[in-house]
Amino acid sequence: MTIDPAAALAQAMIGRPGSRYRVPTPALVLDEAVLDANIAAMAERVRGRAALRPHAKTHKSAWIARKQIAHGAVGVCCAKLGEVEALSAAGVRGVLLTSPLADTTAPARLCEVARADPDLLCVVDHPDPATALAAEAARRDLRISVLIDVDVGLMRTGVASPDQAVALAEHIARYPSLTLAGVQGYGGHWQHIAGYPARREAVRAGMLRLTAVVTALRAAGHRVELVTGGGTGTVGADLELGVLTELQPGSYVFMDVQYGDALADDADGAFGTSLWVSSQVVSANAAPIVTVDAGLKAFATEGPTPRPASGRFAGSAYAFFGDEHGAVSRPPGTEVRLGERIELVTPHCDPTVDRYDSYHVVSGDTVTAIIAIDAARASR
Ligand SMILES: Cc1ncc(COP(=O)(O)O)c(C=O)c1O
Repeated sequence: MTIDPAAALAQAMIGRPGSRYRVPTPALVLDEAVLDANIAAMAERVRGRAALRPHAKTHKSAWIARKQIAHGAVGVCCAKLGEVEALSAAGVRGVLLTSPLADTTAPARLCEVARADPDLLCVVDHPDPATALAAEAARRDLRISVLIDVDVGLMRTGVASPDQAVALAEHIARYPSLTLAGVQGYGGHWQHIAGYPARREAVRAGMLRLTAVVTALRAAGHRVELVTGGGTGTVGADLELGVLTELQPGSYVFMDVQYGDALADDADGAFGTSLWVSSQVVSANAAPIVTVDAGLKAFATEGPTPRPASGRFAGSAYAFFGDEHGAVSRPPGTEVRLGERIELVTPHCDPTVDRYDSYHVVSGDTVTAIIAIDAARASR
């Protein structure tokens, strides 16, 4: 096993006042009180109106999944089979794999997980993977619950019509080793639409497509118990429209720049930022800016720029300054100390988290724990 000296140094700081501002950087810093408040607030928001199965693709952590389940979540969602395996190995149960699979090794891997997690669910949008999964499950004397993934307008995955859904349901019904548990309809393209009325209107059109599938399946005699989907941006609309029986929000645990900007004015965005990338000033000789040690490698870069959040740099602008560095505008007349910490809100939390191995959990200025990101880079 390789020893990471920076990780060992961070470990040695746990419990020491001020350690939040001394951990080797760039590092993920997670405020546990805000995280817990976000988890409790979402649980409260959906209670009695829908089941909650938060998406763990955001945090990839069994520790956070357990907190969500302790607040009433029925399980968690995963986007990749590797994530399912990592969280299952860490003891998380009630996992829903929300992406359809085509890989020929997938059925055996899913069946291995199903042995430990009888409540495992996965989606299908084509008969062939369903056939392969049915054969593998039958060989092992297992019964696997599947959902039909429905395209609600994104065109990424999912059956494209009610007829296709009914044909797939009939195919699934031929196999005693498979149980059709319901449908999934997720609209990623709606999540960041600014303003509740516009977002609600987009969701309404997509839910009509999902409802048409559910109606056709039921008319053909198929059981549709679970109707799952939705993300942080659409919780309000999903609850109001009432089509989904189970919601899958992910990013609300952390909140990032994308979501903060899009949802600033409505209840869907009423969650606190709990996660930052901590950086430190490594050069401060140029008058208008300081240079920090978090650049392109420290963030997902497809969205807006990271946003300085701490102390006197809150409100400063950040610009990428190459792979390893960032430029942060310097408030006029400010003396800056080398090593000074600048914490940055992540532009897009999920793919940023995937670049790290651990969360530095903090309470105030103290690191209280270092928690492994169990499914970091488990992308296969
Ligand atoms: C299928 C599915 N459900 C739920 C989510 C959670 O979305 P968010 O992180 O925007 O809350 C995602 C995110 O990409 C997803 O792909």
